Order: sequence, then C-alpha cells, then structure tokens
Amino acid sequence: MLSCLSPAKVNLFLRIIRRRPDGYHELASLFQTIDLCDTIHFEIAERDSLQCTDPSLPTDQTNLVNKAVALFRQNTGLNTYFDIRLDKKIPQQAGLGGGSSNAATTLWALNELTGRPASLQQLVDWGGALGSDVAFFLSEGSAYCTGRGEVIRSVGPLPPKKLIIVKPSQGLSTPQVYGQVKAEMLEQRDPEQALRNFMDGRPLYFNDLEEPAFKVMPELADLKRQLLNGGFETVLMSGSGSSFFCIGNGKVPSTMSLQCYSVSFINRTPSGWYS
Ligand code: C5P
Repeated sequence: MLSCLSPAKVNLFLRIIRRRPDGYHELASLFQTIDLCDTIHFEIAERDSLQCTDPSLPTDQTNLVNKAVALFRQNTGLNTYFDIRLDKKIPQQAGLGGGSSNAATTLWALNELTGRPASLQQLVDWGGALGSDVAFFLSEGSAYCTGRGEVIRSVGPLPPKKLIIVKPSQGLSTPQVYGQVKAEMLEQRDPEQALRNFMDGRPLYFNDLEEPAFKVMPELADLKRQLLNGGFETVLMSGSGSSFFCIGNGKVPSTMSLQCYSVSFINRTPSGWYS
C-alpha cells in the first residue's frame, strides 16, 4: 500500500489576461502548496474501487481521482486496477484546488505503484488534460503558472509564511465565477513584475477573480472587510473562492459559520512526494 498526502494550494497572486476563444481564461498566477492536506491510500487490486470519508463527494466517474486512474491506464496501456481510499480534509468549492490535487497525487502514486512507466513530464502533460490546476500539483509546490494554469514554471521554495485560511460555509462554482469576469474590470498589472517582486521579498497580493466572486456571492466582500477590520495585514481570496487566506495577526469574526485553518507553505523534494 502507498499512502500519499494531497495538499491544498493558494494563489498568492492571480491575474486574468483574457478570455480565450475556447471559453477558458488565460491567466498568470503564483501558486503555492500549503500543509492543509487530504491523505490518499492506494493499493493494487482485482478491480477499481474508490471510497471517501466525505459522503457528499461523489465516488463515480465524475470524481477526478477516477478520471486520473482511467487516463493513467489508457496512456500507459497497463491493465492494473486500484483500491483507493480518500481521507478528505480540504474543503470543496473553496479555491484551494482539492480535487485537482487529488488527481495529481493519483497520477504520481499510480506511477510509483506500477514501476514508473511514465516520466514526470508525461504526468504533467496528462494532468493538464484532467483540469487546469492539476499540472501545478506535480511541481515541487511553488510555481508561476500561465496558459489555462497548466503551463508551469517552478520558482523554487518561497520564504516560509504562516496563513490563516477562512472558508465560509457556502462554496463557489469555478465556472460561475469565471462567467462574471469582464474584460473592462481587469487591471493591466504586469504578472512577471509581480513575480519579481515576490522573489525580491516585496510581495503584492492580488486576485482578479475576487470582484467576479463578490458579484456571485456579495457576502464575501463583507467577510473580507471584517477580516481586514479584525487586524489582518493581507486578506485575499484564493483561486475562484470562496476561501480567503489571511496574513498577520488578526481576529476571525466568531459570529459567522466559518471554518478556519492555520497553515504554512510546504514543498516537496525533487525525488519525493509531499510528507
Ligand atoms: O480546467 P477546470 O476543469 O478546472 O476548469 C473548470 C472551469 O473553470 C472551466 O470549465 C472554465 O469555465 C473555468 N476556467 C476558465 N479559465 C481557466 C480555468 C478554468 O475559464 N484558466
């Protein structure tokens, strides 16, 4: 049996460049994995099965873990089947990449269990076909991502940072948030400059999906205001929401039904998985 952590991510900045003819959005974003993790147990078996500790998560072919298994078998030509147990900790519809991370972890683990028939680059390419964020989770945990998000440039570990993740009970649908992006709303910030600022220790946190998300769920704008009033230095939505990450010393309002997680950045070594 092989047990692997499957980490969540935050987007330290996320710039939307344009809407593409295929309906996706071209973006430029600095992604970072954090130590809020699911755990997935993999075993070679007679037939496929997927079990999940969260009963609200479908375990049928719509689950990205099952999609990753099918793609791995198709692309390697192997006839191997897997018993998979998913211990879910990462909240869903939170902008934390839980499903994409599970898919990437599955590709990695299946490759290990079957004697590495694929190279890491092949796994990255296959990941891009499963979802825009999947390829990132096969990086070492800090990457500047472009295209739909699937073109990854590793940037090396970033200086350590502690964050508080705040997730309202209601989640957000990624397509619905992207659907609210209006070209005229986008600021013309240079993402390469933003990356240089981060690497020089002068980080500027921004997310072009915040305003579209606030249109879908106006309470989120209030929550951000309350978190800033509570003393946090930086409060930014991650991905397409609905969670925020907060930096500094602040108070999370106790009146709302919020899930909070105290987290740090994590990275994996070039040869190993997250531990
Ligand atoms: O690639 P993924 O399946 O994660 O994308 C989910 C949805 O999010 C897409 O169908 C699209 O509506 C939106 N999306 C987008 N531009 C991206 C990534 C996602 O418009 N770069």
